Amino acid sequence: MQTITDALELRLTEELLGRSRLLPTPHLMVDRRIVRANYRRLLGALAPCTVSYAVKANPDPGILATLAVEGCDFEVASEAEMRLALDAGAAPGRITSSNPVKPPSFVAAARAVGVRAFAIDSPAEVEKIAHHAPGSDVYVRIAVDNSESAWPLSRKHGADPNEAIALLGGAARQGLHPIGVTFHVGSQCLSPHAWRGALLHCARIWDEAERHGIALSLLNIGGGFPVRHLTQVPEAEEIGQVVRHHIRELFPADIRVAAEPGRGLVGSAGVLVAEVIGLADRGDERWAFLDAGVFNGLMETIGGIRYEFLTERTAESRIVTLAGPSCDSVDTIQTGVPMPEVEIGDRVYVMATGAYTLSYASEFNGFARPTVAYVDP
Ligand SMILES: Cc1ncc(COP(=O)(O)O)c(C=O)c1O
Repeated sequence: MQTITDALELRLTEELLGRSRLLPTPHLMVDRRIVRANYRRLLGALAPCTVSYAVKANPDPGILATLAVEGCDFEVASEAEMRLALDAGAAPGRITSSNPVKPPSFVAAARAVGVRAFAIDSPAEVEKIAHHAPGSDVYVRIAVDNSESAWPLSRKHGADPNEAIALLGGAARQGLHPIGVTFHVGSQCLSPHAWRGALLHCARIWDEAERHGIALSLLNIGGGFPVRHLTQVPEAEEIGQVVRHHIRELFPADIRVAAEPGRGLVGSAGVLVAEVIGLADRGDERWAFLDAGVFNGLMETIGGIRYEFLTERTAESRIVTLAGPSCDSVDTIQTGVPMPEVEIGDRVYVMATGAYTLSYASEFNGFARPTVAYVDP
C-alpha cells in the first residue's frame, strides 16, 4: 500500500521516458500512483473532511476510476462530466455540482439519476433547481477574495456574502433543503490565508442562518490547492493547518466539511510530451515551435501559469520563446524559457501538467489534442 511519503510529483524517470518514447506526440503521461498519493495526502491534511474531485481538471476515465476506487467523491459541472463520473463507478449520492449556473437539462438529468446536491448563487438558479430537481439539497456559493490565486474565479460566480441568507431562505420557501455554504479561493491559490478570509465569511453566514431557523450542516471549502511549477507553493499540510484551525474556532463541532480539489489531485501527476517542429531567430529572440501549444494543451499559459520545460539535452541553456503549432500569435506559450539548444524532432517535457491541459485542449487549426498514456502499469 502506498503512503503519503510516496512520490507526489511526476519526474522524468526511465519508466516515463521508456513508455513515452513509444508514442507519437503530443501526449500526456499520467502516473495514477501519484493521483492516489495526492488524494490520500489531502484527506490527511484536511481531516476530518471528504474530498470531491473536480472532474473539470482532467476528465480522463483512468483517473476517475482510480479516484472512485479510493472512495473519492466527484464534483461535476455538466451532464457529460456527470456521465463520466457515473461510468467510473461513482454512486450518484457521492456526486455534487458546484457549478453555480447549470443548464436546466443538466439539473433534470442529474436529478433523474439521483444526484441530490447543487450549488446556488442567484435567485434564478434557486428557481431552476426547484423546478427541475424539486426537494434537492442546495448550498450557497459566496464570492470571496481571489487575489492570492494565479487563476481567479470569483468575478463570474458567487453571491455577495450579504445575500447568502436571502438565497438560502428563498430556497427553503421553494421546497429545497438549504444545507450549507461553499466558496472558491481561486485556482492555484498561493496563500493559505485566503481560506481564512473565506471561512470568516462562512462562519458569519452560518450563525445568521441559525438565527433565521436554517440549520446548516455542510461547509464546502472548494478547490484552489496549488501545484509547484517554477516556484515553491504552500504544501497541502500548511493549508490544512490554517483551514482546520479556523474550522475548529469558528464552527460547531459536528459539521461536515468537504473540499473540491481539481488541480491539487492531478496537476503534479502529469507530464505533457511535445516535439519541436520549428526553430527561428527573430532579431535576437530565439523561437522554438512545439506541436502542443496554447490551443491544444497549454491554455493556462494565457492566464499567466508558467511551466517548467525540460529536454533530454545537456548543453548549456539559452533563453528561448516557446510557441505552439497554430497560425495564431496568441499561441505563444512562454517567453524567457532557459533551455539547451534543441533541434527539430527533439522532445520537450512540460512538467506538472496533469490539470487543465487535456480538458482545455481544442483541435484548432487541425492540430491534435494530446492523447493520454499511463506511466504506471
Ligand atoms: C466549483 C469548482 N470547484 C472546484 C474547482 C477546482 O478548482 P482547483 O482546480 O483550483 O482545485 C473549480 C475550478 O474551476 C470549480 O469551479
